[in-house]
Amino acid sequence: MDYLIICGTNRKNSKSKKISQFYQGLLEKKGIASQLIDLAGLPDDYIASALYENAGKNASFQPFRDQMKVARKMVFVVAEYNGSFPGVLKAFIDGMEYPGTFKNKKAALIGLSSGVQGGGLALSHLTDILNYCGTHVLAQKPKLSHIEKNFVKGQFTNPFYVQLLEEQIDEFIDF
Ligand SMILES: Cc1cc2nc3c(=O)[nH]c(=O)nc-3n(C[C@H](O)[C@H](O)[C@H](O)COP(=O)(O)O)c2cc1C
Repeated sequence: MDYLIICGTNRKNSKSKKISQFYQGLLEKKGIASQLIDLAGLPDDYIASALYENAGKNASFQPFRDQMKVARKMVFVVAEYNGSFPGVLKAFIDGMEYPGTFKNKKAALIGLSSGVQGGGLALSHLTDILNYCGTHVLAQKPKLSHIEKNFVKGQFTNPFYVQLLEEQIDEFIDF
């Protein structure tokens, strides 16, 4: 599977998950099949059992590593947590095989937040890290602010946000 969407938090019933599913629907409409990773599905103990000297040893974490390794294009949906992206996503990235997981891959990023920034800083921070790891990041990064108002019951109330996501997908297909 070429396209992999990563819901970048492990918070239960997250908006990131619902927006990831929405994005998957948009890809589908354009004839693109994708898989979705929800970090809420990570084993609870992965920080203690799947990183560093335990890399590759946690059977529940391994399928996530395998999915990330074979993906050619990755879409990260990241909520703004304390002025950055969720720490659980950084720990997830730190648990991936290096450098094979990220080298010469492509990524598209989407940010969301309760506040006005739409995860602008979160997207910047994640871009730096992915670039360091060898992944090329699409310049067009939608920042979805005031998300409680603009995304309700799994649908965008703001059509401009859907337009931004569709434009990003068109760019990402050719990226
Ligand atoms: C731990 C935590 C930190 C947050 N920090 C910020 C923040 O710095 N700026 C902001 O605008 N919203 C912040 N929020 C609100 C989230 O961006 C907003 O609730 C978003 O919908 C959360 O996405 P999620 O539902 O995928 O977890 C924070 C939420 C959490 C849980």
